[in-house]
Amino acid sequence: MTSAQLVDGHGRAISDLRVSVTDRCNFRCQYCMPAEGLPWLDRDSVLTFEEITRLVELLASLGVSDVRLTGGEPLIRKDFPDLAAMIAAIPGVKDLAVTTNGFLLERDAEALVAAGINRFNVSLDSLERDRFYRLTRRDSLPQVLAGLDRLAEFPAAHPIKVNAVAMRGVTEAEILPFAEFARQRPFEVRFIEFMPLDADHSWSPEQVLPGSEIREVINNVYPMTEVAREPSATARVFRFNDGKGQMGFINPVSEPFCDDCNRIRLTAEGTLRTCLFSIGETDLRGPLRSGASDADLEQLIRDAVWKKELKHHVGDPGFVQPSRSMSAIGG
Ligand code: 5AD
Ligand code: SF4
Repeated sequence: MTSAQLVDGHGRAISDLRVSVTDRCNFRCQYCMPAEGLPWLDRDSVLTFEEITRLVELLASLGVSDVRLTGGEPLIRKDFPDLAAMIAAIPGVKDLAVTTNGFLLERDAEALVAAGINRFNVSLDSLERDRFYRLTRRDSLPQVLAGLDRLAEFPAAHPIKVNAVAMRGVTEAEILPFAEFARQRPFEVRFIEFMPLDADHSWSPEQVLPGSEIREVINNVYPMTEVAREPSATARVFRFNDGKGQMGFINPVSEPFCDDCNRIRLTAEGTLRTCLFSIGETDLRGPLRSGASDADLEQLIRDAVWKKELKHHVGDPGFVQPSRSMSAIGG
């Protein structure tokens, strides 16, 4: 715990790590995966629990304090709660979060809370069964809602966030129902602007439903006031004026928040990515498996992080979408 804080070449301290524990998923969300799925990684290509733990230990010694476990769908990885407990036990890891589609939460909520996960983001794009089915290509709305109910039983899991990807032509009808969901249930609903990370590469700017538009619709019915932004936060948070809960808006396309980005990502096969939209990445699995020392790995990580992108270029002429989809990066 003596090494100097990890910083990038733009002076940003890196303290947040997203770890994808599998590229596989049991859903096929339109904005992420094709209907037939993607060619999955071989099991041997995916980092073991021990390999993930070693890298997180090293990163924690360099100042990473917040870790989010993601996928694909992390809960489908065998014995996932055991991995969560291994990460929770690492000195320096202060905050351990998971992003899940919620399908297996009814089964796993208790084990995950017991393992030490203290923040949960559950993806839920529609409260209407048919639309949920169209978006995820799975008829699983009741199962996800049951998972949320189960999770809500655990005080240590709160506050619970529900993330809805917002797309023009799709999400408009969900805006007020989600606002009411956030007001009636103990969940902070956050709308995320659709980003060009879909496997089909069919994203276009016209399909983005900007957070400001959604906010206005809600504000006209349920007035809200913005809460001060925490450093490096992805969401702008608004509290309902009558005290009944809050909503978040993650606007990476219309209001990029790259300036104080503190995040890096580790893919399931052990490459380090310094931006969601990185074109290049740094292999850590190869060196890890061929006997690299912690000092060797630290050097590779520092060099990669130093070159972290200043900002993303979504919407700019000449923007190139990364070849990996969200499921293969880790959200
Ligand atoms: N744009 C915005 N959000 C996305 N997610 C997946 N693909 C996209 C996309 N193209 C979200 C999921 C989940 C998180 C991991 O990322 O809904 O909440
Ligand atoms: Fe699976 Fe999440 Fe991608 Fe949907 S967005 S297909 S739940 S990885």
